Amino acid sequence: MTDVAAAFDRGAASYDLLVSLNPGYHRHLRSAAAVLARLTRSRPRPVRLLDLACGSGASTRALVDACAEADRGVLEDRAEEVRTSGATEILGVDLSEGMLAQARSKTWPAGVEFRRGQVGGLDLDELGEHAWSGALACYLVRNIPSDERDAALREVRRLLEPGGWLVIQEYSVAESLAARLVWDVVSWSAIIPLGALVDRNPGLYRYLWRSVRRFDSTAELVRRLAAAGFTDIRHRTVPGWQRGILHTFVARNPAR
Ligand SMILES: C[S@@+](CC[C@H](N)C(=O)[O-])C[C@H]1O[C@@H](n2cnc3c(N)ncnc32)[C@H](O)[C@@H]1O
Repeated sequence: MTDVAAAFDRGAASYDLLVSLNPGYHRHLRSAAAVLARLTRSRPRPVRLLDLACGSGASTRALVDACAEADRGVLEDRAEEVRTSGATEILGVDLSEGMLAQARSKTWPAGVEFRRGQVGGLDLDELGEHAWSGALACYLVRNIPSDERDAALREVRRLLEPGGWLVIQEYSVAESLAARLVWDVVSWSAIIPLGALVDRNPGLYRYLWRSVRRFDSTAELVRRLAAAGFTDIRHRTVPGWQRGILHTFVARNPAR
């Protein structure tokens, strides 16, 4: 078991409570999931989506809701096509058994499943190479060691069908002094003390602070995505206190 898996196993039981104390956490997940749902809804066939690093299922829930919402929108325009397209399949993948147990304990619609897997070492035969319409990866990439990130992104691209989409949500403060200052203040005045109080697990939240401080700039992540073969790469930050700190990236596996 890796250190990251062990840290998340230990924090799993309190994870939902702690993120609920972060204003905007679920809103930003919904916003990233909505981007992926919209990009993958335009096709008149079953949509298969991965939630990579699904954790306790917060991002999976955002994806389920976003797909339902997007279907309602598409239904108004193209009712017949959508009715024949079949249900959405969503597979949540995570490294931590503890986080997966939290996810599995919740109620999900048909078509949602969870599986243990480490992005960067996934079994592509088992998951299906080029078999997925899209992938959501919220708070994953930073947790992959820097020297393994390029290979992990190449692996993710190989999972996507030609023309399939990847949406990443991730913290990045490397190119902004103001963002680093806000991140330091919020981490040491709120996130780490709350982690100690609620979870008795300040180590996980100190790791969160440190990993964000050390993570790639947005430009570096864009470079990695391009080097992994993705095209149509764009990114934007979120509104609110995490402006300039939290970013959403969109990238596409080129159509053949
Ligand atoms: C901060 S949680 C985010 C969970 C969820 N996406 C959300 O937004 O609530 C990060 C998750 O990434 C998982 N993780 C870290 N590295 C991973 C990897 N290489 N492959 C799969 N999961 C990983 C951890 O186990 C943890 O559950």
